[in-house]
Amino acid sequence: MATQQKLKHLIESQQLTVPIIKEIFDSTDLIRDGNYGRKPNGKILATLFYEPSTRTRLSFESAMLRLGGSVISTENAKEFSSAIKGESLEDTTRIVAAYSDCIVLRHHEDGAARRAASVSKVPVINGGDGKGQHPTQALLDLYTIKTETGRTEGLKVVMAGDLKNGRTVRSLSYLLGKFNENEIIFVSPEHLRMEDDIKDYLKERKVRFSEEDDLQKTLPKADIIYMTRIQKERMNGEDYLKANGRYKIDSESLKLVRAESRIMHPLPHVEEINLPMDIENNDKRVAYFRQAENGLYVRMAVLKHLLR
Ligand code: CP
Repeated sequence: MATQQKLKHLIESQQLTVPIIKEIFDSTDLIRDGNYGRKPNGKILATLFYEPSTRTRLSFESAMLRLGGSVISTENAKEFSSAIKGESLEDTTRIVAAYSDCIVLRHHEDGAARRAASVSKVPVINGGDGKGQHPTQALLDLYTIKTETGRTEGLKVVMAGDLKNGRTVRSLSYLLGKFNENEIIFVSPEHLRMEDDIKDYLKERKVRFSEEDDLQKTLPKADIIYMTRIQKERMNGEDYLKANGRYKIDSESLKLVRAESRIMHPLPHVEEINLPMDIENNDKRVAYFRQAENGLYVRMAVLKHLLR
């Protein structure tokens, strides 16, 4: 998809040029301070979700309402839309585009957002497509990295867990590759390694990366530790058992994390993060709840960009 200074749709991180990222982050800073600027008043956002979500759907809906717009929604489109009667994604998109000014789509198939965008007369935002991408998650992740560390360059980022099925780590890798001197350490079991398309992109961009299977070894050197859940729903039982419980941030492993480093996670987390409540509430290194909150502000900025 060609990059441009004003996006029509937001399908994948490759579309996000550095100037567009900067514009969205500047807008996010203002929004966080309560300065919303011109609002897309009277516009309607449709959230069309074929897979479960807490953060993406509700933060987009809250974002649109805070900007003075309205929301129409189907939270379980697989069962509660006419998909259950056999309607194609393309037909559903055409109809929802006629009823709204912007669509956020989450779908179980890779490439679904691109298919929807190809028939939509209104902007389509990819809210996660199978194992494909989740570009607004990557934006909120990078925004969190920037606000927590003060920079988007010269970072050592550990990404750990299920990298094969993780659309968030795929989208974030693309964004990190756009800024200078970032290094990524991919930590996963052999069978859940990052896919070659991302590694090829990083090689092309001359971004340093390595692959490890020992999380503990990487913790003292990381600026950012980006944990991910082993996605049980996207693999067979044997693969899940081989990976489950292998990587954990708990009170013991936290001792290896430097005071200025940050632990992030797209959430929801299960046992890969096992920290006592007082640490989650008070330890500055725990950034994942601030990260999720940033999702609201970043998505407000994304809506303002697409609907201006
Ligand atoms: N991070 C994320 O996409 O969360 P949800 O699945 O709750 O939307």
